[in-house]
Amino acid sequence: MIRANEHYTKLKASYLFSDIARRVAAFSKENPHRDIIRLGIGDVTRALPSVCIDAFHRAVDEMASDTTFRGYGPEQGYDFLRSSIAHVDFQSRGVTIEADEIFISDGAKCDTGNIQELFAGDITIAIPDPVYPVYVDTNVMAGRTGENSEGRYGGLVYLESTAANGFVPALPDKPVDLIYLCFPNNPTGATATREQLKLWVNYAREHKALILFDAAYECFIRDASLPHSIFEIEGANEVAIEFRSLSKSAGFTGTRCAFTVIPKKCRVFDGQGSPVALHPLWLRRQSTKFNGVSYPVQRAAEAVYTPEGQRQCTELVDYYLKNAALILERMTALGFTCAGGRNAPYIWIKSTMDSWALFDLLLAKAGVVCTPGSGFGKCGESYIRISAFNSYENVEKALDRIGTALS
Ligand code: MLT
Repeated sequence: MIRANEHYTKLKASYLFSDIARRVAAFSKENPHRDIIRLGIGDVTRALPSVCIDAFHRAVDEMASDTTFRGYGPEQGYDFLRSSIAHVDFQSRGVTIEADEIFISDGAKCDTGNIQELFAGDITIAIPDPVYPVYVDTNVMAGRTGENSEGRYGGLVYLESTAANGFVPALPDKPVDLIYLCFPNNPTGATATREQLKLWVNYAREHKALILFDAAYECFIRDASLPHSIFEIEGANEVAIEFRSLSKSAGFTGTRCAFTVIPKKCRVFDGQGSPVALHPLWLRRQSTKFNGVSYPVQRAAEAVYTPEGQRQCTELVDYYLKNAALILERMTALGFTCAGGRNAPYIWIKSTMDSWALFDLLLAKAGVVCTPGSGFGKCGESYIRISAFNSYENVEKALDRIGTALS
């Protein structure tokens, strides 16, 4: 008898953003003439930088000729892209990361979800609350948790990120093996200083733990004192993996290109406590289960790392940061306590209402979609997240409508 993976039954019925999309679709169906402004899922709205489009066209043309056509590429990505990333994102900032420590993929969501299959089933996992739901859900699917009770899965160690700690959680009070961190943070928009990251790196070294560091939003950092990579912290290359994405930095949400950095020194341990390098394990996993990102997409991604590509991407990100600043200013003026929005595209807004009730109210009265904070965890209750990914005009319009709806 074929049996289902019963761990799936522990999950909430649907993924947070699918749930929101379903509710918005139902509202649209009932109110076909309402203009809806989407500030929910962090999906970019502006066109790809022109350097990427040009590179894309050239690569597609190469595919049109037998002499320049490419079939399967290296599963871990073409060297032209890995070298450009190593140079621009790391070496030029004084961080020692080599091209062959970078694995190109089709998304940080997939990588953060897939990476956990490299770890034993009975490890202890520390997960921030609130958190990007993929980290939790993929571990639930893998059977590393108990049942969900009152918004918390048994077996997980939750790291509470609250206004009291500036949304940067404290070290766990019991030993953990795997730690998920994301800075600039989704959903709170909080950032971590070098000193704060150093505490985590030291913890991981001392406790033989591993940090999964999601840096998908590093391109929004404008404060020069903040670290962009966990590998800026001494000793992190033995205890951390970093996930990056071109989704927000270059508008690739629909184009799909990301990468995961696994330093050759990064280690886990076997049952006898001997170190096991993670790099060959991930290479083995990717070459078995993944056939790489398409050649034209990797050429478009390579263009991001040219001087003109960097200029165009900075302009793109600055556009969304201007939206974020407006959201922060206007929601604060409406009397809300807000976090994030400065070195991040998300504004984390505290309300006196239940998260879903405020979501429903803003949708019904303002035609604005946000994300209910409780969808990111128990500590997100009574918060909403507003994303800066839309046109400036739509963001202004949405804020006007929110002002009217709440007055
Ligand atoms: C979000 O809105 O949290 C993100 O867009 C989700 C993602 O990047 O997968």
